[in-house]
Amino acid sequence: MPTFEVTAAELTAAEADVVAIPAVAAPSLDEDADEQADPPVPTLGPGAEQLAAAIDVDLGAECRALRFDGSVGSVARIPTRGAIPASLVLIVGLGKSEDLDAEAVRKAAAAVADATSRQRSMATTIPAGADRLEPARAAQAFVEGLSLGAYRFSHYKSKTDEHRLEQVAVHGTATDAVGDGVRTGDIHARAAAVARDLVNEPAANKRPPGFADRVRTLVDGTDVDITVLDEAALERGGYGGIIAVGKGSEAPPRLVELSYAPDGAERHVALVGKGITFDSGGLSLKSGSGMMTMKMDMGGAAAVVATVTAAAELQLPVRLTGVLALAENMPSATAQRPGDVYTARNGKTVEVLNTDAEGRLVLSDALAHASERQPDVVVDLATLTGAVVVALGNRIGGVLTDHDGLADGLLAASQTSGERLWRLPLPDDYREDLKSEVADLKNIGQQGVAGTIIGGLFLKEFVADGIPWAHLDIAGIAWSDKQYGYVRKGGTGAPVRTLLEWLTAGAGA
Ligand code: BES
Ligand code: MN
Ligand code: ZN
Repeated sequence: MPTFEVTAAELTAAEADVVAIPAVAAPSLDEDADEQADPPVPTLGPGAEQLAAAIDVDLGAECRALRFDGSVGSVARIPTRGAIPASLVLIVGLGKSEDLDAEAVRKAAAAVADATSRQRSMATTIPAGADRLEPARAAQAFVEGLSLGAYRFSHYKSKTDEHRLEQVAVHGTATDAVGDGVRTGDIHARAAAVARDLVNEPAANKRPPGFADRVRTLVDGTDVDITVLDEAALERGGYGGIIAVGKGSEAPPRLVELSYAPDGAERHVALVGKGITFDSGGLSLKSGSGMMTMKMDMGGAAAVVATVTAAAELQLPVRLTGVLALAENMPSATAQRPGDVYTARNGKTVEVLNTDAEGRLVLSDALAHASERQPDVVVDLATLTGAVVVALGNRIGGVLTDHDGLADGLLAASQTSGERLWRLPLPDDYREDLKSEVADLKNIGQQGVAGTIIGGLFLKEFVADGIPWAHLDIAGIAWSDKQYGYVRKGGTGAPVRTLLEWLTAGAGA
């Protein structure tokens, strides 16, 4: 992951392998325009004129010759033939000025990441002058897009195809606003990378005890304290859901509690993460293809670790409690059976009719545990249902809450981060689908009927009355099978940046 510096120096003075110049596309041609005519050349951003003079190239003519239109993510490559220290100039399209927002900058920056994977250093300027984009936001988005796009998980590759970009210098605008934006973007993107590394790790190497150790290492030396409950402590404490899911595996379950408690914090937020380190379905076994990506079923727990540690690095004035419910869902002679009943930490009994609806079982205890800390608000993050993928696809996550203020705060943060969320209802009358013949509730509703909502209604039973709570179903967005924009294949890091934006904005509910 590259490191960033901000300097007031001219771009032409940069000692870098590549110089990148932002370009804004010309407005669309009107209807009667001559289609045969040359398309208008994009407007080149700050530093372009001096650079053109230094390399003695008419950049506008080059753009025309290359048919470069400045659309978002388009890149023109122009060699400098020894005229300046950089051997290459990249002209990077930001799209039309009326559409220029943080998301466009992130996408353009990710295209720059793709174009610089074999280079060591880059110098650039931040696009200025867009009406709806303040310099700090533009700088943050640029750094996020570049770092997210340059992310690689190459730990298990013998011939590494590491992204080689090490240094990025942002020229021309060494204001505090730009400096702050760069720093924020860097911390947000590195937090996403923490979650992505955990999600991408093979399940064999992150079983619950090892996962807990790794979290210990991650928080070591930070302002985050950690407590780990092992299987004996969970048994003593009545964490029946985590025990029930974990008992099919040789690797015992864990509950990890993180605490960041800065002096003077007025709000206390609890973040709860589903941490199924592998979801085979248990005795209600999944198909082979159904479990192919199920190492990602701890994406919620990964997002909690990444968010809490980044919040501490940012010194956000919010108290945070993070709760990770870690278990491996495996079939075996010791596994829970369909029809078994467990008692959750809050005393409610649950009939488990499908062992593949396991996330809600570990979360039942984790939500009860978080409630005991008496936070002002609880948000849980869980790769909970395939149904949310049916409803919203792989690029939009579900938000379920009874609290309009909390929904609005999370949706606003999601607009800022570009990690899209959509609110789904939590109708009380659907609760009747969770009625059990033998226990207080059962863990599934009717097959194929409102699966995501039923999951949310189940979880609601374990949050103490009066605490505003939201459930984020991230089954679709925590993982991507495709590369697009600044998203790369594998773990996406969602919704870490959204949570950081929400916490930075005061975690309103
Ligand atoms: N981890 C899965 C949900 C999931 C599916 C995440 C696809 C990511 C991609 C979850 O534990 C699960 O198996 N849910 C079941 C619930 C059902 C049995 C009520 C599902 O969605 O089929
Ligand atoms: Mn499952
Ligand atoms: Zn699962």
